[in-house]
Amino acid sequence: MLSLTNKRILLGITGGIAAYKCAELTRLFSKAGAEVRVAMTKAATEFITPLTMQALSGNRVSLDLLDTDAEAAMGHIELARWADLVIIAPATADFIARVSHGQADDILTTLVLATAAPIAIAPAMNQAMWSDSGTQENLSALSDRGYHIFGPASGEQACGDVGPGRMLEPQQLLQHCGNLFDVGRFASLRLLITGGPTREAIDPVRFISNHSSGKMAFALAQEAAAAGAQVTLVSGPVNLATPDSVSRIDVESAEDMLDAVMGNISGTNVFIGVAAVADYRPKQLAHEKIKKDDEGLTLSLIKNPDIISEVAKLSKGPFTVGFAAETNSIIENGKQKLLSKKLDLLFANNATQSFNSDSISLTAITSENEFEIATANKNVVAQEILKLISERINSKSAE
Ligand code: C5P
Repeated sequence: MLSLTNKRILLGITGGIAAYKCAELTRLFSKAGAEVRVAMTKAATEFITPLTMQALSGNRVSLDLLDTDAEAAMGHIELARWADLVIIAPATADFIARVSHGQADDILTTLVLATAAPIAIAPAMNQAMWSDSGTQENLSALSDRGYHIFGPASGEQACGDVGPGRMLEPQQLLQHCGNLFDVGRFASLRLLITGGPTREAIDPVRFISNHSSGKMAFALAQEAAAAGAQVTLVSGPVNLATPDSVSRIDVESAEDMLDAVMGNISGTNVFIGVAAVADYRPKQLAHEKIKKDDEGLTLSLIKNPDIISEVAKLSKGPFTVGFAAETNSIIENGKQKLLSKKLDLLFANNATQSFNSDSISLTAITSENEFEIATANKNVVAQEILKLISERINSKSAE
């Protein structure tokens, strides 16, 4: 059964050429069992008629804040309260700018400001407008406020340009909206994830680090966000794009990572430590480049903080999930880490097989048992991991 059954979706349409796709989107929402109400800006009505949207949604379309008839049928505040989800598709650069500044100067911006429901936007605009730093700043402000940003896709544009800015297809938007209500309780959960390596400076040009591409952490962040979680990803230096709707904090050293984690841990429901944190750092940081005058060089190292153990120690802390990349006695070492770090769940793997790879196999280890997650693409494995976490949080909170 699709997770949109009986969900109340408020579809806001702004004035872009992709507005014509809203007819199909409304049809798909209805087919999935959702009830749809539509609000349109004046510009949107130039691209698709309110009559079309009324016929497809089966409900009167809201067009104007000051329309007494419409307000008598369902006022804008009532409509904002009615929704389980507000999706603005297409969302123009102008709409994104106005809403990011908290304006309420038309029916759509007002609804968005007044609703307590999750808000998703599907940007659609010319590729240069999309890449403009003003648009990107506005989007990152919305993302920080918990808005779900779906797309855009890249490709040919109505204006003849090629690049990012195409609205996602209705079928993809349907899937993203369904995901917001999927995977049990993720829609109202906050996840904090660490990923990538850390770098421990020796001098201004050298560092100690671990192998880690960050792909597993980024896949988890992407899948958790798609399942409706509010995700913060604290990442060491990696070469990966930030997944949609994920708020990312870049760090270098283990100490920076600990600061970022502790600064964001409050209110976190699930912490997942995927980062390959360097266990040691140079005792002294040389402020000038070390000259290679001698035949040998001895570095004195001191232990780094164990970030995940610090999180697991917190009273009323989050459900804490660790990873263990091992080269030998994988399950034994994994179990040992689960217990010594006081984790709720741990995923162990063979370190040498997964570096920089797009696929991985893992053994899930709890205090009671362990089982295998077969080799698959890291996004597929991430979905399995999230399913397990969701089941275990649910059974933990039912105890
Ligand atoms: O490096 P180790 O095998 O101990 O990593 C096991 C788990 O502990 C992983 O989840 C890793 O992210 C976390 N860890 C950490 N801080 C460290 C070392 C490891 O959070 N200093």
